[in-house]
Amino acid sequence: MNAATSRRRSGVPYAARVEAAVKVYGSSATAVTALDDVSVGFPAGRFTAIMGPSGSGKSTLMHCAAGLDTLTSGSAYIGDTELGSLDDRRLTLLRRERVGFVFQAFNLVPTLTVAENITLPMDLAGHRGRRGRQDRRARQEQLEWTEALIDVVGLHDRLHHRPAELSGGQQQRVAVARAFAGRPDVVFADEPTGNLDSRSGEEVLGLLGRAVRGMGRTVVMVTHDPVAAAHADEVLFLADGRLVDRMAAPTAEKVLDRLKAFDTRTTSDGAAADIAASGDQSDVQSDVQSDVQSDVQSDVQSDVQSDVQSGVQAGTASGTASGTASGDQSGTASGTAPEGARP
Ligand SMILES: Nc1ncnc2c1ncn2[C@@H]1O[C@H](COP(=O)(O)OP(=O)(O)OP(=O)(O)O)[C@@H](O)[C@H]1O
Ligand SMILES: [Mg+2]
Repeated sequence: MNAATSRRRSGVPYAARVEAAVKVYGSSATAVTALDDVSVGFPAGRFTAIMGPSGSGKSTLMHCAAGLDTLTSGSAYIGDTELGSLDDRRLTLLRRERVGFVFQAFNLVPTLTVAENITLPMDLAGHRGRRGRQDRRARQEQLEWTEALIDVVGLHDRLHHRPAELSGGQQQRVAVARAFAGRPDVVFADEPTGNLDSRSGEEVLGLLGRAVRGMGRTVVMVTHDPVAAAHADEVLFLADGRLVDRMAAPTAEKVLDRLKAFDTRTTSDGAAADIAASGDQSDVQSDVQSDVQSDVQSDVQSDVQSDVQSGVQAGTASGTASGTASGDQSGTASGTAPEGARP
């Protein structure tokens, strides 16, 4: 696929997209089709929300679009880069340099300070290849960007604290800043407010919105919450692994009405999907997350470990270092987050 086809008719390019995406988990009798021929693009400089009943394939779509998981068939692109064409090393680099992540569990590195957590992806990217070429101007730009991010997340007075010393909302704001730190093409957020009270949730959503509208970034967010979805420019609705609807200029009310249609349909079908109940994230989701975690972890562990150890903070335990790249979420899975860092 070339650059022309990665553009929408309106001329706005897609930061990420999937074409005829199919994802089947398992095989034969136990096979589950999580994505069933989905084609969708996430326009650059826009905020897109993905909604749908539990098990409808939202996280799967996000993980496949972000290069955290592979499609069974079809294609996924970040910009014009087709992810299936990349070997593991390139995919790891792409995730690190062009994609940011925010997860429901904040996944900060517990042994690093707020400032170190925020700059980690960029430190890694810098250490990995741009170091020699990075001139003073680029460094200055990066510094200004980081300052702007820290301003936006409003954590100037917490920069030298560790995650366990922060509230859940503050931790997630750090995670948001970290996701944007390396100026990725797109930030994917999977239920970023799922563990937050409504006020902290609003703050995080406000941040995501400002990153898009004030800083020109691109956000794709999975959420169960109509109020959260109303922060987006457009909401995509999935059901049974298919894209079934989309809504521009969403309001919480309109989104809620649309979701009720799922409830009515599933209730009359006698199906178990319950959008309201699924807000507390299913076991499946955590299964997916741990799968992804271990994949990503094994991809980047050695790189990240040595980067962290040499470049950021000597003595960082290997278990914690494994969850540090922007594409990683292993802090929780590897059991390294202290109790206080957990939601
Ligand atoms: N690793 C896996 N192995 C087998 N089936 C899986 C796996 N991961 C997901 N699935 C199945 O794929 C489907 C989509 O799962 P996915 O996690 O994408 O749903 P979701 O929309 O994100 O749900 P939730 O709102 O509960 O997080 C579900 O039927 C789920 O059971
Ligand atoms: Mg999910």
